[in-house]
Amino acid sequence: MDYRIRSMEEYQAAYQKSVDQPEQFWADVAENFTWRQKWDKVLDWNFEEPNVKWFVNGKLNITENCLDRHLEKRGNKLALIWEPNDPKERFIRFTYRELHEKVCQMANILKRNGVQKGDRVCIYMPMIPELAFSVLACARIGAVHSVIFAGFSHTAMADRINDAQAKIVLTSDGLNRGPKQIPVKRVVDEALVDCPSVEKVVVVDRIGWAVNMVEGRDVWYHEELEHVDKNCPAEEMDAEDLLFILYTSGSTGKPKGVVHTCGGYMVYTDYTFRNVFQYEESDIYWCTADIGWITGHSYLLYGPLLSGATTLMFEGVPTFPDPGRFWQVIDKFGVNIFYTAPTAIRSLMAAGLDHVLSYSLDSLKVLGSVGEPINEEAWHWYHIHVGKERCPVVDTWWQTETGGIMLSSLANITPTKPSHAGFALPGVQPILINQEGQEITENEQEGYLCMKFPWPGIIRTTYGDHERCRQSYFSTYKNLYFTGDGAKRDKGGLWRIIGRVDDVINVSGHRFGTAEIENAINQNRHIVESAVVGYPHDVKGQGIYAFVVCGEEAPTNEENLRAEVIETVVDQIGKIAKPDKIQIVTGLPKTRSGKIMRRILRKVAEGDVSNLGDTSTLLDPPVVDEIVKGAL
Ligand code: WT7
Repeated sequence: MDYRIRSMEEYQAAYQKSVDQPEQFWADVAENFTWRQKWDKVLDWNFEEPNVKWFVNGKLNITENCLDRHLEKRGNKLALIWEPNDPKERFIRFTYRELHEKVCQMANILKRNGVQKGDRVCIYMPMIPELAFSVLACARIGAVHSVIFAGFSHTAMADRINDAQAKIVLTSDGLNRGPKQIPVKRVVDEALVDCPSVEKVVVVDRIGWAVNMVEGRDVWYHEELEHVDKNCPAEEMDAEDLLFILYTSGSTGKPKGVVHTCGGYMVYTDYTFRNVFQYEESDIYWCTADIGWITGHSYLLYGPLLSGATTLMFEGVPTFPDPGRFWQVIDKFGVNIFYTAPTAIRSLMAAGLDHVLSYSLDSLKVLGSVGEPINEEAWHWYHIHVGKERCPVVDTWWQTETGGIMLSSLANITPTKPSHAGFALPGVQPILINQEGQEITENEQEGYLCMKFPWPGIIRTTYGDHERCRQSYFSTYKNLYFTGDGAKRDKGGLWRIIGRVDDVINVSGHRFGTAEIENAINQNRHIVESAVVGYPHDVKGQGIYAFVVCGEEAPTNEENLRAEVIETVVDQIGKIAKPDKIQIVTGLPKTRSGKIMRRILRKVAEGDVSNLGDTSTLLDPPVVDEIVKGAL
C-alpha cells in the first residue's frame, strides 16, 4: 500500500480512517515493513495503568527494516553523508551496503565485549559516524541503547548509567566543537568512578588524543574492528521489546528514562517522516539535531533510514567557521529537505543577512522547525531568506515521549501558518482540557493539550519506574495522555502551542526541569536555597533565571559567588544548563505553608513587576520588594 498522502482530500480521508478504524489504519501502514512474524492483534491499551501494546506478538528487527530490506534496490544508494566540523576536512559517505557492514561490525564488537539482548548500552559520543553505527548496532542485537548527549557532565552521565544499569559505554577520545576540542573520554572516566554496572568501554579515536585506557575495561574501536566479521544476523525482537531509553527532564528533580519499543516506534517514525516532509526517493535530507536528543533518534536516523532516504549528519555548529555554515552545507550537497530548531534560526538571523544571501539554496524544497515555538519573526525570516518563499515551513510539534511528530502541516498539502503547528497527523487525537478538567470544544480558547487515543510511537513506560510514567502523563486527567503543554486552535482548527504549563523550561530547544536546576545549584556549599524560573530570551527562547539564598560564609563578592554557582551547575548537569542570570536574595517569596510563589518570581524574571497579583498570603511580604529592587 502506498501510505504517502498526496492531497488535502487524502489527508482528510486518512485522518478519518485513523479515527474510525485505528487498528485497520495502522495495520495497513505496518504491512509495508519486514516482519519475521505478523502481529496477532494490532492494539491492546488502557491509559489507566497505562498499558499500551502495538502489533501484539509481532516479531521484527528494526535494522532489518532500516538496512537489509533496502540492499536489493538501494544497496548503492547513499544512506548517510557525514560532514565534519571543519569544512577543510573531507566528508564521508556511506551507501546502504556500507552502512549495513559498519553496523554489523559494531554489533559484533558489542557481542565480543559481552553485550547480549536486553542489556543496556550507554552511548556518549559526539556527532561522528560511529555514533550512528553504535545506535543501530544495539538495535541489531537487541540491546537497549541509552544515548546521552555528549554535552552532559560526568555527574549527569553517572545518574543515567546507574538508572539504566548499563553494562558498557561507547565513547570517543574527544570531540570537535567549532574552533574547540573538548575531552570526552575523561568525562566518561570521571562518571565511571560511580558506576559499578559498567564492565567495558569502547573508545573511538576521533581527534587523536592520548587518553587513559583502563586495562581490562577499555578497548579501542579501531583495534576491535580487526577481530570482527562484516556480517551480523539481526536478532528477532518482539514488537514490544525495548528499543531504547532516552532521558528527559520533567517537573520533578530527576530526569526520567523514556522507553520506546521496536514495532510501534518503527511504524510511526517512518510514517511521519514520509508524510510531514513529503519525502521523495531522490531527496537529500538534513536534520541538524544531535542524535543525543529524540529528534536525532527519530528524524536523523530511524525515520529516514526506514524510508530508504539519504540522511546527512553534521558534526559541527551553525556558526563555525562563520554563520553561513548551514547554507554552505546545503549548497554543497544539494540538500532538499532541511529540518532545524528555532534557536538556530534566531542565532543566524542575528548574524546578518549577508551570510545567507551568499548561497543559492536552490535545492531546498521543504523546511522544518522543531523543539520550541517558532516566533513569527523567525518563521518569516526562515521562509523568505532560506526558503525564498518557495518552500513550505512545517512547524512540527512533538515530544520525547511521543516518539514522533504529532501536530504539523504536511509540506505542500495542509495549510501552514506562522506560530502554528497545523493539524493533527493521522492517528493523533488531540483534546483540549480546561482548568476544571472538561473538554474545550470551541476554537480560539486556550487549554491543556492532551491525547485521547494511543498512537504507535507513544511512551510505554519510564525505565524502572512504571508508576512515575502513570503519575507524570496519565494521572492528571482520567483516560488521557497529558502533554504538559498549553495550546489552542484557531478558527480554522490549526493548532498553536503556547508552551509548557508545568515547571519545565525549554532553553534552546533543550528541556530542563526547574527543580533539576535548583537541585544542581543547591549542591553548592554556599547555597541555602534557590528557585529557578524561565524568562523570554531572544535567541534561546527561554533563558534560565536563578534566585539564590546563600549562607553566612558565602563569598561577599557577588561575581565570585555567581561564578561558583555556574561551575556547580556545569558540573552537575553540563554547560547547556548554565543559568543566564543569578540574583542573590536574602529570602524567597513563600506562602504560609512554605510553598515558593513562582508566579511572582516569573514576573520579576520577565521584567513585568507592574502587577504581581495577590501577595497577601505571603509569609514575608517585604522580601518581594527586595527581589523587585534587585532584579537583573
Ligand atoms: C517540548 C518537548 C520534539 C522534539 C524536540 C523536543 C516543546 C517541541 C515544538 C513546536 C512549540 C514545541 C513543547 C514540548 N516543543 N516542538 N514545534 N512548537 N513547542 O523534545 O525535549 O521532549 O521537548 O518541546 O513544549 O512539550 P522534548
